[in-house]
Amino acid sequence: MNAAVLGIDIGTSGTRALVVDAKGTVIAQGAAPQASSHPRPSYSEQNPAEWWAATKRAVSQALGRAAAAPEDIAAVGLSGQMHGLVLLDEADNVIRPAILWDDQRAAAECAEIEEGFGREKLLEIACNPALAGFTAPKIAWIQKHEPDSWARTRRILLPKDYIRLRLAGEYATDVADASGMLLLDVRKRDWSDEILSFLNVDRRLLPRLYESPDVTGAVTAEAAAATGLAEGTPVVAGAGDQAAAAVGNGIVTGGSVSATLGTSGVIFAATDAPLPDVPRGRVHAFCHAVPGMWHIMGVVLSAGGSLQWVRNELAEAERAEAQRRGVDVYDVLCEKALKIPPGAEGLIFLPYLAGERSPLNDPYARGAWIGLTVRHGKGHLVRAVVEGATFAMLESLNVVKELGGEVNEIRLSGGGATSRLWQSVQASVYNQPVSLLEVSEGSAYGAALLAMVGAGFYATVDHACAKVVRTTASVNPAPAAANVYNRTFPLYKQAYQQLKNEFKALGEVSGA
Ligand code: XUL
Repeated sequence: MNAAVLGIDIGTSGTRALVVDAKGTVIAQGAAPQASSHPRPSYSEQNPAEWWAATKRAVSQALGRAAAAPEDIAAVGLSGQMHGLVLLDEADNVIRPAILWDDQRAAAECAEIEEGFGREKLLEIACNPALAGFTAPKIAWIQKHEPDSWARTRRILLPKDYIRLRLAGEYATDVADASGMLLLDVRKRDWSDEILSFLNVDRRLLPRLYESPDVTGAVTAEAAAATGLAEGTPVVAGAGDQAAAAVGNGIVTGGSVSATLGTSGVIFAATDAPLPDVPRGRVHAFCHAVPGMWHIMGVVLSAGGSLQWVRNELAEAERAEAQRRGVDVYDVLCEKALKIPPGAEGLIFLPYLAGERSPLNDPYARGAWIGLTVRHGKGHLVRAVVEGATFAMLESLNVVKELGGEVNEIRLSGGGATSRLWQSVQASVYNQPVSLLEVSEGSAYGAALLAMVGAGFYATVDHACAKVVRTTASVNPAPAAANVYNRTFPLYKQAYQQLKNEFKALGEVSGA
């Protein structure tokens, strides 16, 4: 085999490993699932030991399928779910389950941070407001609610950097992922002493910072034995999953924007300066995985996640049908939705099943179908879910435009890029053609491209993307559908405004 690299993504629902050659062709992949636990309605946790177990399985599988000799892998790139809080003790033992990006327990701590530190100053330094999804409010929650865990803490890591520790025995992170901790001076691409001192977080607890394509260390003998990689294989810093996915999608200069649908849904635009949304903080402004670049992005917490919920909770009949026909349950659900006209005959879905991040910043928001009648069936429910999740994406896209992010091209990626339903709904809701990519392998692919730069296959991230990332087709909006969406979107926005106090009250009643 010719020289290749390995990209690993520690996702929320699973870990993926991709072996990619220098031309960008995916040679083989491996995957292993992971489950989250929700001890209370707004909590979301995972055990880092499971990430490592999943990584070992996914990597061995990918290497085996590629029939790659360990030395064929020139470098490893890491990407992962952002913001998750991993606490380690003196001996690098995990102190408690990791608190994940979609955990909303730290709402009160957000208010305390903004009041105590000053919201304006936070927006100036960290370029973002305090959001329950980010890492710093989770640290404040631990300090207050689990002081014993905090007293034992000697290291704080993000999910993919815990895997780096297991792989390469070092405490390191990249500036793109670190931006989502709310501890970084995003303009300076360095930890903010002012924020650290306000939160009582010693700099020594934090990993060393690198730019994403930099090599941070190498695979240890122990990790080599556990994964099948060669000892000494360089490991690059990599990036949080969104910045990594953006690299994989070629969103590395201004003008193109990506719309990525996984569990979450993300609108991502590269910018050559930080563009914080002052004073409202509706979208995130982070360092990009491209040295010297930043990005803005809006995050919808349950985009694909809303359809996942339908599949898990409401699709028994479709599951049986899928089994009979030997297809995926999603295919059966989406076929039903494709038979329903745009607008789902007056049915709206609010996709706030895990609260909402951009642009609402409301941890108390809840999901709802609005406008149900006896005429509506499963196809309508599904269609409304897909449309509602896409409306949520449109809200972020509109903020990106308002902040001056150029939107000449929208590239689709993630699960939403592969389904005809999501493609057509997105084109018509955004009312702009959407492009499809030749390879849409998401964050693990971006991590692999970063590894290629670290391994010296390409001089820069831009260069790697120019050589490797290609669009194939584009899907145009359907004027009639776009017209229906244009009329429905204001109703969707109003529905949340009218219900937001009730959502909060429902949370209080249920003790969430
Ligand atoms: C980004 C975010 C999610 C997670 C999980 O800010 O919270 O996209 O990274 O994928």
